[in-house]
Amino acid sequence: MSGPVHCIVDDGIALVTVDNPPVNVTSQAVRQGLVRALDKAEAAGVARVVLTGAGKTFIAGADAREFAAPPAAPHLPDIIRRIEDFPVPVVAAINGTALGGGLEVALACRARIAAPAATLGLPEVTLGVVPGAGGTQRLPRLIGLGPALSLIGEGRVIGAGEAQGLGLVDTVAADPVTLARTFSIPSRPATGALPAPPPDPEAVEAARKQAARRSPGQIAPLKAIDLVDASTRLPLDDGLVVERETFLALKTSDQAAALRHVFFAERAAMAQGKGGGAEISSAVVVGGGTMGASIAYALAGLGISVALVESDAAGVERARANVARLYADAVKRGKTTAEAAEAEQATRLSFHEGYGVLPPADFAIEAVFEDMEVKRQVFAALDAALPARTILATNTSYLDVNRVGEGVRHPERFLGLHFFSPAHVMKLLEVIRARTTSAETLATALRLAARLKKIPILAGVCDGFIGNRILTRYRQTCDIMLMEGALPAQVDTALRGFGMAMGPYEVQDLSGLDIAYANRKRLGWRTKEGFRYIPIADRIVEETGRLGRKTGAGWYDYDGGKASPSTLIDRIVVEEAARAGITRRTFSDDEIVTRAISSMIEEGFRILEEGIAARAADIDLVMIHGYAFPRWRGGPMHYAGRIGLPEILRRIEAFAAEDPLSWGIPELLRHAAREGLGPDDLKGQA
Ligand code: NAI
Repeated sequence: MSGPVHCIVDDGIALVTVDNPPVNVTSQAVRQGLVRALDKAEAAGVARVVLTGAGKTFIAGADAREFAAPPAAPHLPDIIRRIEDFPVPVVAAINGTALGGGLEVALACRARIAAPAATLGLPEVTLGVVPGAGGTQRLPRLIGLGPALSLIGEGRVIGAGEAQGLGLVDTVAADPVTLARTFSIPSRPATGALPAPPPDPEAVEAARKQAARRSPGQIAPLKAIDLVDASTRLPLDDGLVVERETFLALKTSDQAAALRHVFFAERAAMAQGKGGGAEISSAVVVGGGTMGASIAYALAGLGISVALVESDAAGVERARANVARLYADAVKRGKTTAEAAEAEQATRLSFHEGYGVLPPADFAIEAVFEDMEVKRQVFAALDAALPARTILATNTSYLDVNRVGEGVRHPERFLGLHFFSPAHVMKLLEVIRARTTSAETLATALRLAARLKKIPILAGVCDGFIGNRILTRYRQTCDIMLMEGALPAQVDTALRGFGMAMGPYEVQDLSGLDIAYANRKRLGWRTKEGFRYIPIADRIVEETGRLGRKTGAGWYDYDGGKASPSTLIDRIVVEEAARAGITRRTFSDDEIVTRAISSMIEEGFRILEEGIAARAADIDLVMIHGYAFPRWRGGPMHYAGRIGLPEILRRIEAFAAEDPLSWGIPELLRHAAREGLGPDDLKGQA
C-alpha cells in the first residue's frame, strides 16, 4: 500500500505502520491511510492488528499547521472509536514518541507496549488547546484521576518507565512490534468501557491552583482540568462531546494562535544551527564573574576545553569559586555526581592570570566589565595571544560591537554573543553581527548555539540590540507614567496582570538599580537633547543608596524578603512630578498596559525597519525568552498583529500627539497598517 500508512497482513496479523516523516503527524493523509488499513485488516479477517510507527516516533500527534483550517474528514476521534470497537484486538507497539493524538490512538488500543526510549504525553495545553480525541476521558479511566490531572493539566511528557508505573503502558520491551504479535491481551475491558474514576474535588482544586501558579492567564490548562474532572461524572460519549467542543473552540483562540506562533518561531530559530560552520573544541573565556563563569561551565559541559582568564590572582580565585559553585549546585540538584563534577573541572577547565600561557583555542569570548576601553584592551590581548583562526566574541549587553572589535587582525571572525543570565540556563542567545562578521563565523556561532541548546536570534548592532533596547524603552515609558500619576507598585501590578512574570520595578530591584544607572550615565540621558529625561531612578541611586534587593531596599522596601511599597520612593516620585510642573492624574491598569506594551511595539517596528532583527517573530522570541513576556500572548509583535496594526498605529499616533519627544510613528508600521500587512509579512535585513 502506498501513502503514509502501510498495512502488511501476515500469519493472521495485520501490521499497520504509520510512516509520515519526519514525526508521523496525523495529517489528513495519515487519517485516510489508517481507515484504509483498518478496512484491509477487517476484510482479511485477521486475529489481531499491531499498530506502530516508522522511525523514532510512534505518532507525534496532530499537525499544528492544520489547526488554523476547519477540520477535514476522516476525523481522528472516529478512527479512535473504530480502533476501540474493532472486532479483533489492536495492540499499540509504541516504538518512540507518542504525543497528543498519537497517545490518544494508543489509549484506544487493547494493549500498549513501549520501547524503552519511548516518550508519552498529552502536551496539548502547551499549544493552547486540550486533547481533542478522547485523551481527557480515556486517560483518567486508565490511570486514575490524579495522574491524569497532572499529565494533561501540565502537558507533561514522560518516559516509558514512568508510563509503565502509572499503568499507561502494559509493558516495556526492546522490540515492541515483535512482542505485540504474541502479547496476551489484558482481560480488562477496552479503555473507554472502564469504569469512570471516582471524583476527587480536592485533587481537582489542587490541580487548578497549580495551573494558575504555573501558567497564570492561560485558559487551556484550566479547561483541560475541567474535562478530566468531568470524566468522573459523564458517560464516555457525553464526555467526548464536551471535550471535542472545547478543543474546537480553543483551537481558534488567541492563546492557541499565540502559542503555535511561538512554537514554530522557536523551531525556525533553532534550525539555524544546522547550516554548517566549524565545530568548536577549545575555548577561552575572559572574566569569570556572573556571566563568564556560567558560560565557561556551559562550554565545559559540551566537552569543550576551556581556559578562563582573569587579570589578577584574586580574580582567578573568585572565578574558580564561581565555577565550583555551579558544579556544586549541579551535584546538589542531582544533575551530575560529585566525582564527575570533580573530573570535569580538573580535565576541561584551566584558570589563568593574564594571557601569557594560553593554549590555542577555536573560540574566545569575553565577559569582563561593561566598559568600552576595558573590552577593547581585552580583544587586543586576545588577538595577540591566540591563533588567527580563533573566533572572537563579546558578551556585551549594550555596547557598540563594531567599536569593541575594532583593530583585531581578522575582523571577519569577530561578533557579539549576548548570553542571558544565568548563561547556562537561559535559552536565549542574541547573535550580534558586526559590520565585518563573515557568514562562516555566524554559521560557527549558530552551530555552537545549537550544541548549547540555545534559541539563537540574529541581531544587528545598535544600543542594547533587540532585547535590552526594547527593555530600555519600556522602562522609560513606565517612568514617564510615574511622573504623570502612577506609582511603582501600580505599574508592576498592572503589567503582571497582563502576564509579565514580574513588573519593571520588581525586576530592577532584583537585578540592581546600579546597572541601569550606569547605562543612563553612559548614554548621557540627563543632558540629552530632544529626550524626556525622568530623574526619579537617578535620585534613588544617588541620594538613597537603595540599589535593590542586594541592599535591602530599592523601588520597594523589603521586610524579610517581602516587598512593600516605599513611602520614601512615592515621595520622590511626587516631588519630581511637582518639580516638572506636572499635575498628576490617575491611570487605569489598562492604560498602563496599553502604553507600556505599545512602546515595546513601536520600538519593535523600529528594530525591524532598521534591519536590526530579521523577523518580527525573532523580536517575540527575545522578549519571551529574555524578558518574561507572556508566551501565551505570542510576544509583542504577534500581540500587535492580533490587535490589528491600524489600531496600534492609531494608539501610537495619539500618544505621539500628546508627547512627541517620547513617541513617534515608525514608517514600517504606517506602511503595514496601510497595506493590511501583519507582523509576519514584514522582513528586516539582519
Ligand atoms: P561581573 O562583574 O560579575 O564579572 C566581570 C568579571 O570580569 C570579574 O570577575 C572581573 O574580575 C573580570 N574582569 C574585569 N576586567 C577584566 C580584565 N581586563 N581581564 C580579565 N578579567 C577581567 O560582570 P557580569 O555580570 O558577569 O558581566 C560581564 C559582561 O557580561 C558585561 O559586559 C555585561 O554587560 C555582560 N552581561 C551581563 C549580564 C548579566 O545579567 N549580568 C547579561 C548579559 C551580558
